Amino acid sequence: MHVNPLAPSSALPSARAVVQNLGASRIREVANAGIGMEGVLPFWFGEPDQETPGFIRDAAKEALDAGDTFYTHNFGIAPLREAIARYVSTLHRPVDVNRVAVTSSGVSALMLLSQLIVSPGDRVVAVTPLWPNLVEIPKILGAEVVKVPLRFGQTWELDVQQLLDALTPGTRAVFLNSPNNPTGWVITKEQQEIILAHCRRHGIWILADDVYERLVYDAAPDTRACAPSFLDLSHPEDRIVSANSFSKSWLMTGWRLGWVVAPEPLMADLGKLIEYNTSCAPGFAQRAGIVAVERGEEIIANTVERYRAARDFLHARLNAIPGISAPKSKGAMYLFFRVDGAQDTLALCKQLVVEARLGLAPGSAFGPEGEGYIRWCFASSLDRLEDGAQRLEQFLKR
Ligand SMILES: Cc1ncc(COP(=O)(O)O)c(C=O)c1O
Repeated sequence: MHVNPLAPSSALPSARAVVQNLGASRIREVANAGIGMEGVLPFWFGEPDQETPGFIRDAAKEALDAGDTFYTHNFGIAPLREAIARYVSTLHRPVDVNRVAVTSSGVSALMLLSQLIVSPGDRVVAVTPLWPNLVEIPKILGAEVVKVPLRFGQTWELDVQQLLDALTPGTRAVFLNSPNNPTGWVITKEQQEIILAHCRRHGIWILADDVYERLVYDAAPDTRACAPSFLDLSHPEDRIVSANSFSKSWLMTGWRLGWVVAPEPLMADLGKLIEYNTSCAPGFAQRAGIVAVERGEEIIANTVERYRAARDFLHARLNAIPGISAPKSKGAMYLFFRVDGAQDTLALCKQLVVEARLGLAPGSAFGPEGEGYIRWCFASSLDRLEDGAQRLEQFLKR
């Protein structure tokens, strides 16, 4: 048959099927309905309420003034990689600088690590409810995602046996985010030991999203707050990759700066992926990253203290509202609470925006197992949280 190469295809242009099938962000759907509306109190996004501290911004300004406007090494500038390696080694087990790469955000770190280990058709297990990116990234890569739900109670909890049952031989990877967005669940060291032993036995990769590791609220006083990490237990050759970010610990969401720790034998391949994704993170942002990790402990301590007070306040306040059950978060910056009778939280959150001027994230944004719940980001002042709680209370009374 003769095919005319210049004839237009009759089909409309379209993206790959897996991309078309990705869910759009339901948080955005609510926020878009409310952005620009007067008097809305926004607690929908997971973002600190404070700007990046001045000394971190100054480092970037100085770098720009000194002409730092060029590409850097794929893995980041040496002083930042070294600073991160020292920082990670102080918090966890010693990590060699050769295992550290700087990335353009935590989001990018997660995509790179997934591209490194996940192939089409792979089976990936994820503990949910979960921030959507971690479920959608493996799907973009053509993998199948199997979910293991956390249990609702006084706090959100993992049934480790249920997770082990899902981690069948042949599973490629388990994606774990602790402290967790949206529930505030924090994995224990004992659970990590059990999961690690199982994954070692079956050659399963552990992808740990550690971006909230410094935001934990029940650490012993006078200790550096940090969640249990697989990097506390792992050997350099373990199949463990960790993604981290400057966004939450140092109030740097807009900078798009993060890092990964990976086994050394993967680093050359990771370098290729960085080259083909972003090539490198901006040099002047990396300069700011150095002062953040080296001089940022006070910021973290202050942030943890503020967020702990915010969590305690909101937790008590929400549970005093009839019809609401709010488990206490152990980490991250969210309460993920149940509203009796709520069957369509997307519609409910849209209604809350329009009728109560209150911006919250629907639980269904975090997977079908999140339906019936609402996420509230408590990185805010107590006054604003109280104002929001009053609006919710009035709305539910009506
Ligand atoms: C669980 C989790 N991982 C990773 C990120 C990525 O953060 P960033 O891309 O700002 O570094 C976020 C941001 O909200 C998050 O909630």
